[in-house]
Amino acid sequence: MIIAIDGPAGSGKGTVAEFVAEKLGLTRIDTGAMYRCVALETLREGVSIDNKKKIIEIAKAIEIRFDEKQNVYLNGENVTKEIRSAEVSSTVSSVSPIPEVREEMVKQQRALAKGLNVIMEGRDIGTVVFPNADFKFYLDASLDERARRRLLQNSENNVGMSFEDIRKNLEKRDYDDSHREVGALIRCDDQIYIDSTNMTIEEVVEYILQKVGVRK
Ligand code: DC
Repeated sequence: MIIAIDGPAGSGKGTVAEFVAEKLGLTRIDTGAMYRCVALETLREGVSIDNKKKIIEIAKAIEIRFDEKQNVYLNGENVTKEIRSAEVSSTVSSVSPIPEVREEMVKQQRALAKGLNVIMEGRDIGTVVFPNADFKFYLDASLDERARRRLLQNSENNVGMSFEDIRKNLEKRDYDDSHREVGALIRCDDQIYIDSTNMTIEEVVEYILQKVGVRK
């Protein structure tokens, strides 16, 4: 079984995917983490974000792996924390629109899911990676609510960023995500749309489980 969850940054895809994966015994694959690995290696090798050729080479050469605890490994090294740094976050928006990088990531995402029951989250999972997924969800929330959630998360992790800055940053990411030439974040008729603005994580998880159960 394949469950695809797409949606904008800060919509809660990761947390929801984690709970659903645990409940249904699925392997969770966070595709954003994979693009972040390409960005991290680009930074580490000191490659300019204008050097597309080299970035494509990096995407093809690196080995990305997850373990059952959701740790992320880049060429065997645990980079779970590092890929969340501000530097990686700002670089990833330059590497993820490159069509050949996407092509390579999509190939790796399909390979990682082969033979497994999977819940995969990202921006183009139900549209590009697994258009025939058993269940496709689009998880949304208003910009203000996503900024509010991020602010809360940041204060728990001692990251000091104002609500306004977080909001602006999310707004830019929304724009970038929906204006990519390849693999853009789009809503489709065959996705189950969830507006989680006024829902708790538990309610979203319950809703997804109900949909999967009802249609199984
Ligand atoms: O979900 P995230 O913030 O960890 O994603 C990191 C970046 O990767 C973000 O710029 C969007 C991009 N991304 C993508 O282009 N396609 C995906 N399937 C997942 C993430």
